[in-house]
Amino acid sequence: MSVSVEEPTYATYLKLVTSAFLACVTLIFVRRRWFSSISDIPGPFLGSFSVLWQIRHAIKGHTEEETIAEHRRHGDFVRIGYNEVSIGHPDAINEVLKSQMNKGDWYRIFSLPDSRYVNQMSEVDAKRHITKTKNIAPGYAFSNVIKAEPYVDGALRLFEKRLDSLSEAHLPVNFDEWFNFLGFDIMGEVTFSKQFGFLDQGRDIGGAIANTRMLGIYVAIMGHFWWAHDYLLANPLIGYLNLQPTMHIFDTALAAVDRRSKNDQVRKDMIEQWMDMRKKHPERMEEKEILAAAVANIGAGADTVSATLQALFYNLLRNEETLTQLREEIDGANLAEVPTHEETQQLPFLQACIKETLRVHTPVAFGLPRVAPKGGVTVLGRHFDEGVILSVNPWVIHQRPDIFGNDADVFSPARWMDPIRAREMEKSFTAFGAGYNQCPGRHLAHMELCKTTAMLVRDYDIKQVNKGKSWRFESHFTAVPYDWPCYVTRRCNQ
Ligand code: HEM
Repeated sequence: MSVSVEEPTYATYLKLVTSAFLACVTLIFVRRRWFSSISDIPGPFLGSFSVLWQIRHAIKGHTEEETIAEHRRHGDFVRIGYNEVSIGHPDAINEVLKSQMNKGDWYRIFSLPDSRYVNQMSEVDAKRHITKTKNIAPGYAFSNVIKAEPYVDGALRLFEKRLDSLSEAHLPVNFDEWFNFLGFDIMGEVTFSKQFGFLDQGRDIGGAIANTRMLGIYVAIMGHFWWAHDYLLANPLIGYLNLQPTMHIFDTALAAVDRRSKNDQVRKDMIEQWMDMRKKHPERMEEKEILAAAVANIGAGADTVSATLQALFYNLLRNEETLTQLREEIDGANLAEVPTHEETQQLPFLQACIKETLRVHTPVAFGLPRVAPKGGVTVLGRHFDEGVILSVNPWVIHQRPDIFGNDADVFSPARWMDPIRAREMEKSFTAFGAGYNQCPGRHLAHMELCKTTAMLVRDYDIKQVNKGKSWRFESHFTAVPYDWPCYVTRRCNQ
């Protein structure tokens, strides 16, 4: 008697593979949700087993608001990813950001134009990062930045000329574009003595600035899948085929660095400082680090300044008394045609307005991730195992009523005018980050903010085209507003 054995069919194989896949997914889900070393930390459901909560809000564009809301709901620790805890207490500035923990792998996404160019932003290893920082520090030193002041003045004069033309033609000024034009052109001047031409041409050449918004979304999402970056935007083929979304910016930087190697009649700009450093220490600085650092600068230094200037003027338009007080201080100071950096340091209310803007609309609106080292780490009395990602979002700290007052969500520069209170709040002020990753461009940023604000407040009346209409902004890594066109007119007494 013969027994017939049925041949497994394609459908049976498919069922088997599907069941195995579902079993694996269930196992991963159960393990992450209930058996991870951070399973006891509360947070959004999606964050308990995946990075979907972070991706969802990176796409929606308000990670900062959602992270604040989660901290108000759950306290200082919130599990925002299967392996990531957001810490909302100011002590995390010392215990996490100022420690020597490596940065999260998420930062690797910042290797641009492609993965060969690891810059200080994308270098995640703390030791290598510190060497890179030492190599480029002379370029950012205040003593070097201040030498660029006459060139910043040149950009500001051109900026006002463009505002005058728009004003005469009764055309609205989109400050999201114009502050970006200014920010990029100043970065070009200071980094490699060449503007990008945005102010000169008065337009977004090659759509480079509009595309930085797309780049922001790409960075926020793909940072979680940085290993795929090499096959996507950082693929050298993309650069070769000119498909980078911000090609005008990279091309201008590349050409300026290349020209430099053939020309020794140059200013002591940042590139020159870095080239000098490489001559002195060729063993610790590769040539491609110079271009990488220039690109990091341009990526980090333009839209952050634009966001701050926009937030400052947007808030001044909504706070007439504050604007009047600031204007009285500025008008009474008899400033130079382009106010000097030194003059602006003597204006306490201007300084308070800038500080308050950086607090209430902090340009970097994303958790800054660090990785618990070998043996784990204790933060705020709680132990975290090796490899757990600990992130600190400056917005969460800056909106704490226990530090900044019950009106912490309101723009109120006066809070910085009491020196004792200001000293206390300063300890929790983290707009420029902290520790070995602290923003190296902060001196330049501060100079740009002081000079531009003093000059514009003195020279122009600004009115929103639609009075009182709210702006829009989405925060991916940076929170850059848009959609609040204004009319500008020269003030009568000028
Ligand atoms: C208002 C303006 C600015 C703000 C609020 C700001 C804020 C920040 C913050 C918070 C970080 C640290 C991120 C982290 O811990 O991962 C950072 C890093 C950085 N910033 Fe700025 N920045 C500003 C302007 C600038 C300017 C003008 C430049 C260039 C001259 C610049 C260059 C950089 C670079 C190169 C890094 C990477 C540093 C590192 O990882 O070591 N930034 N910035």
